[in-house]
Amino acid sequence: MWSLRRAMGPEPSRGCCLLRWLGMKVCRRSTLVFALLWFGSWVFLNGLVFVHRTILSDYCTDDKSKKILQRVCEEYREGTLTGDLCEDLCVSGQVEYRRCLYYENGKKVIEARWRGTPVVLKSKLENFSSYESLGLLEYQDPAEELSPLDVVFYATLEIRNSLGLDISGNASLPPLWGQRLREHGQAYSRAELASLWSLLQQEEYTFLRVLQDLSRHLAKVLGSCGHFYAVEYLSAGHAWDQNIFSLEEVSAGPRTARDMVHRIALSFLDMAWRFDNDFLHRLHLCDIKPENFAIRKDLTVVAIDVDMAFFEPKMRDILEQNCTNDDDCNFFDCISKCNMKTNKCSSKRRNSNLQVICEKIFRPWFSPTLLGAKAGLPHQVDLQRAVQECVDTAGGEDEVQDRAVQKRLLDLLTGLLHQGTSSEHWGEGGEDREGIHPHTALNF
Ligand SMILES: Nc1ncnc2c1ncn2[C@@H]1O[C@H](COP(=O)(O)OP(=O)(O)OP(=O)(O)O)[C@@H](O)[C@H]1O
Ligand SMILES: *[C@@H]1O[C@H](CO)[C@@H](O)[C@H](O)[C@H]1NC(C)=O
Ligand SMILES: *[C@@H]1O[C@H](CO)[C@@H](O)[C@H](O)[C@H]1NC(C)=O
Ligand SMILES: *[C@@H]1O[C@H](CO)[C@@H](O)[C@H](O)[C@H]1NC(C)=O
Repeated sequence: MWSLRRAMGPEPSRGCCLLRWLGMKVCRRSTLVFALLWFGSWVFLNGLVFVHRTILSDYCTDDKSKKILQRVCEEYREGTLTGDLCEDLCVSGQVEYRRCLYYENGKKVIEARWRGTPVVLKSKLENFSSYESLGLLEYQDPAEELSPLDVVFYATLEIRNSLGLDISGNASLPPLWGQRLREHGQAYSRAELASLWSLLQQEEYTFLRVLQDLSRHLAKVLGSCGHFYAVEYLSAGHAWDQNIFSLEEVSAGPRTARDMVHRIALSFLDMAWRFDNDFLHRLHLCDIKPENFAIRKDLTVVAIDVDMAFFEPKMRDILEQNCTNDDDCNFFDCISKCNMKTNKCSSKRRNSNLQVICEKIFRPWFSPTLLGAKAGLPHQVDLQRAVQECVDTAGGEDEVQDRAVQKRLLDLLTGLLHQGTSSEHWGEGGEDREGIHPHTALNF
């Protein structure tokens, strides 16, 4: 540069242009270098992600999923495992593979169609043999059959253990096993016992199966074959979607998106209330985010990821920790207070399901910036205020206040729902202005 400038000295004006031209070139070159570097690191990072996906964790492919199901069927034919889904899966071809949804740490989630109904096939582990075998079966003479009462006893123990309920208490029989026992009348086969045992080792299965008839806010288990069980296919929520749920997937009839959102919100409220009151013990959801909920066609909200759902006794166990401050007493979305005298966390949860739902689901959903034109409607403003109040109320501590907050949200949402339907009767161009902003994601 220095010698160049000297050489250009006698002709200042031209030199200036040349200099600028040179400068631009230098500038461009560094841009180019920068772009190349950026591109290089992008390729490198993508490569890393790819390697991670394919080698380190097992990335889900159709080929692998089909092989896994084939192995299940081989074992079914060998008589190692069984279940009410096996015949349709392995013999009559009534289960049609669709795609795989998810593999992580061995967990398999596969979408399929069973006799025309969309289902999700799930198993925590890929292979039947990876599950702990039922010790009883090894000690028993193979010719001798186990008495049904033994089976029921072990199954009940396993279930109570898995749900964290009091083991010493009255071992009441979960309806499912009692019913099967009565239908069967006699003994279970080895394949049946081994299959049952592999399913009982999957907390999610146990949880869903036992609470099956007690709540409509949990996914229905439709059948099983060996260690795989089928649950109803639902439309899962997405964090990236403003509406959380893909309303197109469930929309039936002339409902507006806004109407559907209010119905879904009401179902969330219903779920929060029922999980607090419908079971013998309060049910705590400690991982509340859009992806962990789904909706049915009738807009009922369903909790699909129950790995972080605990009944009160287990919740108390989990929360009771040594601590030096309140931050030590946070277990995901379930928090309690640190008792500074004993340095132990309180075993009573300080917040409630509803409070976290308000914070993580309702607030972003009904937030004023995203509501756009609708924000001005009087009820919407009230709703935002009620949601904020719900976020600020420590629900686990004051029952009375908790109920008040709940009732206020319920009244507002019901009001908005009626407002919505009555303006529909008035036809287009009403105060609702649905036609003016026809299709932003924000328009509900
Ligand atoms: N009943 C269902 N209907 C439709 N999709 C489902 C259903 N159950 C699970 N999925 C999809 O499969 C994915 C994984 O399922 P699931 O949540 O059971 O796995 P997980 O290991 O518990 O997930 P996480 O890592 O979030 O804890 C979910 O994100 C969801 O999109
Ligand atoms: C499952 O079984 C197959 C075939 O027997 C084997 O190749 C695979 O490694 C097993 N997977 C696991 C996780 O054990
Ligand atoms: C179990 O329940 C039955 C009826 O509900 C009762 O008669 C029995 O005493 C209970 N047993 C125990 C150990 O609590
Ligand atoms: C908690 O603290 C008690 C005594 O302060 C101690 O005995 C115990 O081991 C601690 N537990 C854990 C899990 O750190």
